[in-house]
Amino acid sequence: MNTLITGASSGIGQALAFACAKRGDRLFLCGRDRARLDEVAARCRELGAKEVAAETVDVTQPATTRDFIERADELAALDLVFANAGVSTGAETERNVRNTFSVNVMGVVNTVLPAIDLMTERGRGQIAITASIAGYGPLFACPSYSATKACVKTWGLALRGYLKPKGVGVSVICPGFVRSRITDRNTCPMPFFMEADKAAQIILKGVSANRALVAFPWIMRFGAWFMGAVPYVLSEFVNRFLPKKN
Ligand SMILES: NC(=O)c1ccc[n+]([C@@H]2O[C@H](COP(=O)([O-])OP(=O)(O)OC[C@H]3O[C@@H](n4cnc5c(N)ncnc54)[C@H](OP(=O)(O)O)[C@@H]3O)[C@@H](O)[C@H]2O)c1
Repeated sequence: MNTLITGASSGIGQALAFACAKRGDRLFLCGRDRARLDEVAARCRELGAKEVAAETVDVTQPATTRDFIERADELAALDLVFANAGVSTGAETERNVRNTFSVNVMGVVNTVLPAIDLMTERGRGQIAITASIAGYGPLFACPSYSATKACVKTWGLALRGYLKPKGVGVSVICPGFVRSRITDRNTCPMPFFMEADKAAQIILKGVSANRALVAFPWIMRFGAWFMGAVPYVLSEFVNRFLPKKN
């Protein structure tokens, strides 16, 4: 498999890179931190990746992101593209909110559009978009983060139907709390916390089966679905009891 992963320099993306390396994929990895990215690439080679190319790419830049994806595809027709890079917001300052939308929404758009162009042309391929359990409904603790994840979740699921006749599969990934540089900074309680390698296994299994939604753990998926389904006044009440970030 020829697999491209954005946000591969740490956390879930790194764990996905390791899992794909173990099955012998040819890997195209990107992130922004050169040193961490090089470490991940080296480990992927040790784990059995067929070939590894790692580049620093800022996914908020459409031209450089497209260039990275198109050059990768020229070397090896991409079978699987993970639009995984993302940030948590921290304090809801104007700067942080803009950055959250820029990376979590436009970064995904900048990754997915070139993948669509290349894959629809040959009538095959799989796109995996990392949203979040936080995208199931409005979370008062992280308004912009939950909004960006709701956006890419809906876009991904709609794209799935739109691209199916063109031979391209789309899966939306909605993890709960997974060990990463994002959760390392969290001080709030993180129920059903999961290690990144376990999350990567669940994600790869779901994506390989072309599942529409890979949302886990199931209990958080159910809770998040319920919160999104109830009238706003009820979700407002429940939101009061959810963990708050400091
Ligand atoms: N961990 C969780 O509990 C959890 C739960 C639900 C969803 N998610 C989602 O999972 C995805 C991966 O996050 P993570 O938890 O693994 O956090 P992480 O360890 O902080 O990894 C985030 C990755 O995204 C990259 N990135 C951030 N901004 C970028 C940009 N502008 N251009 C290119 N790459 C950029 C980072 O690269 P550099 O570090 O090199 O800048 C890093 O490789 C995100 O979309 C996140 O929202 C995480």
